[in-house]
Amino acid sequence: MEKIAITNKKQTKEDILRQSLLKERGQIPEHVAIIMDGNGRWAKERGKMRIQGHKAGVDSVRDSIEACAQLGVGHLTLYAFSTENWRRPKTEVSALMKLLIQTLRKETINLNKNDIRLNAIGELERLPSICLNELKEGMEMTKDNQRMVITLALSYSGRWDINNAVREIAQKFKSGEISADAINDDLIRKHLATAEIPDPDLLIRTGGDFRISNFLLWQCAYTEFFITNKYWPDFRRDQIYEAIEAYQTRERRFGMISEQLYEQQKTQAKATA
Ligand code: IPE
Ligand code: IPE
Ligand code: MG
Repeated sequence: MEKIAITNKKQTKEDILRQSLLKERGQIPEHVAIIMDGNGRWAKERGKMRIQGHKAGVDSVRDSIEACAQLGVGHLTLYAFSTENWRRPKTEVSALMKLLIQTLRKETINLNKNDIRLNAIGELERLPSICLNELKEGMEMTKDNQRMVITLALSYSGRWDINNAVREIAQKFKSGEISADAINDDLIRKHLATAEIPDPDLLIRTGGDFRISNFLLWQCAYTEFFITNKYWPDFRRDQIYEAIEAYQTRERRFGMISEQLYEQQKTQAKATA
């Protein structure tokens, strides 16, 4: 596979080794989702404006994308702006939108060169039109790329997502397209903004808060959580490795008991032997 170049740094031997150890040790999560939090506090501690924290966070995004693509993560979903974030001071919101436009302009070509697809979920119509256009262009340009899918959650909230799904399902019920009995997990999943994306295996939150802040509420039913005190601008691939290491030690029981998982593994091993 082609080398990945998102950051301008050459990958060190130590990093290549660390990644291959991670791959040997256990499973690499298919879908990693990140709540990128702590930009404001990072800036405040340095006597800077909050927007400086958001700007510094762009390097963390680049490094995370590169490391995840190298590891073979299939989906990386980044919570960049929540529905509730519209309630922030106007100056911060407009500075964030400006940063988003600039970053999209600069980075989409790079994503495309690296065979990475750009996707977005959320109430995108609320974004300034220049921003929405950049986003649409980026998604169109990268739509056939295969290596990894980056989904930006923008003007997104889990409740918005569920409201939409319920509304669409209600309309289909009203028109007689579906019966009430047809409503189940699978039908609801197909009406969410993430219909094309598997549920996250691993959710990372930076900034130290133990909450979901209206992120992928339905989708995180059985997601493994990893919370780090690092602020987003200080976050680098080392913390991704730490999170994946922690993930690899978790036993994902999905409501069952350990013995059942063990039996399942045995049967699978026999089938593939
Ligand atoms: C996360 O950082 C970025 C966005 C929500 C857009 P914050 O801006 O929430 O930073 P803190 O949590 O105030 O430190
Ligand atoms: C969550 O961070 C949203 C994003 C990272 C985009 P917030 O800073 O908005 O979350 P709360 O308000 O602390 O829960
Ligand atoms: Mg915050």
